[in-house]
Amino acid sequence: MWAVESTPVNILAIESSCDDTAVAILQNGNILCNLVASQKIHAAWGGVVPELASRAHQQNIVPLVDAALKQSNIKKEQLSAIAFTSGPGLIGSLLVGVSFAKSFAMGLNIPIIEVNHMQAHIMAHFIDKPFPPFPFLCLTVSGGHTMITKVNDYFDSELIGKTTDDAAGEAFDKAAKILNLPYPGGPMIDQFAKDGNPKAFVFPQPNIPNYDYSFSGLKTAYLYFVQNHVKANPHFIEENLSDICASIQYSIIHHLLKKLLRAADDFEIKEIAIAGGVSANTGLRNAIEELGIKNDWNTYIPKFEYCTDNAAMIAITAYHKYMIGDFAHQSVSPHAR
Ligand SMILES: Nc1ncnc2c1ncn2[C@@H]1O[C@H](COP(=O)(O)OP(=O)(O)OP(=O)(O)O)[C@@H](O)[C@H]1O
Ligand SMILES: [Mg+2]
Repeated sequence: MWAVESTPVNILAIESSCDDTAVAILQNGNILCNLVASQKIHAAWGGVVPELASRAHQQNIVPLVDAALKQSNIKKEQLSAIAFTSGPGLIGSLLVGVSFAKSFAMGLNIPIIEVNHMQAHIMAHFIDKPFPPFPFLCLTVSGGHTMITKVNDYFDSELIGKTTDDAAGEAFDKAAKILNLPYPGGPMIDQFAKDGNPKAFVFPQPNIPNYDYSFSGLKTAYLYFVQNHVKANPHFIEENLSDICASIQYSIIHHLLKKLLRAADDFEIKEIAIAGGVSANTGLRNAIEELGIKNDWNTYIPKFEYCTDNAAMIAITAYHKYMIGDFAHQSVSPHAR
């Protein structure tokens, strides 16, 4: 058992679950440095290629850790613990971060802290004040997940609703691909939607019970809509790009917020947060703020850099685990789900 020492608590955190190699350093709950090496190589393939991702993590991880320590003015001997994402994610990518963290910690004779990537997306709300008070509802929308969680405490939460098929981020990326926009498409849709009319085209809203989500029907309806219009007019996409982006973005956001609104009413919770890569979307950020004003909610939206994959969210989760002495064993292994 590792003894929890008095301050300063310096944690090196590593995130390598997908195609971003990220390293952060935290001191006593404050982020000193948050670095991300994004892998551009996947754009040429229209999506993340797992084997290329793990190779790129191997190339990036040592120089990135080195840069983070230098920028934070922390020597490796001053580290209290090393944290890493253990899952969910691409197994080869995770393996690079987990192996690096375990061996570095073993060399320094310090503990390791295992962090769940999805929990970390929610914990990103405890990086900068104001922190949401418990209990709060968090809509987590990312490339692989879409879910509503009732967060009762740092490590006590209930899953209330989730997607039954695709994730919202996937829907954004597929919508962009159908318009021949480059990967990752979510930010492109966001950019073009700013000049478009969200009511220009109407797509059928998913009909799914409770607080669950579904994006596959919407995606298919949108695909046929684009294909049919392109058949009739080969320039349909170029001529209507902003309106198409604004309309599909509106449909996705409408579905997301309808369920969130229902959950907030049913659970009588007015502390509402969003997390995950899609929470970087301007339309979603504006819509949730408007909904908050209308419904007297306190809304919590992370900074852009803490929405998409980053190691600061791993560091803050690890800090709270460190404070309760929740360390992992060296036999820990990554898990895809
Ligand atoms: N401005 C934006 N508008 C819409 N979508 C966005 C925006 N920025 C990022 N995204 C989407 O967010 C997703 C990436 O988010 P994130 O990095 O959290 O996902 P992930 O880590 O791949 O998946 P998960 O967290 O579920 O394991 C992508 O689908 C991307 O298109
Ligand atoms: Mg993520």
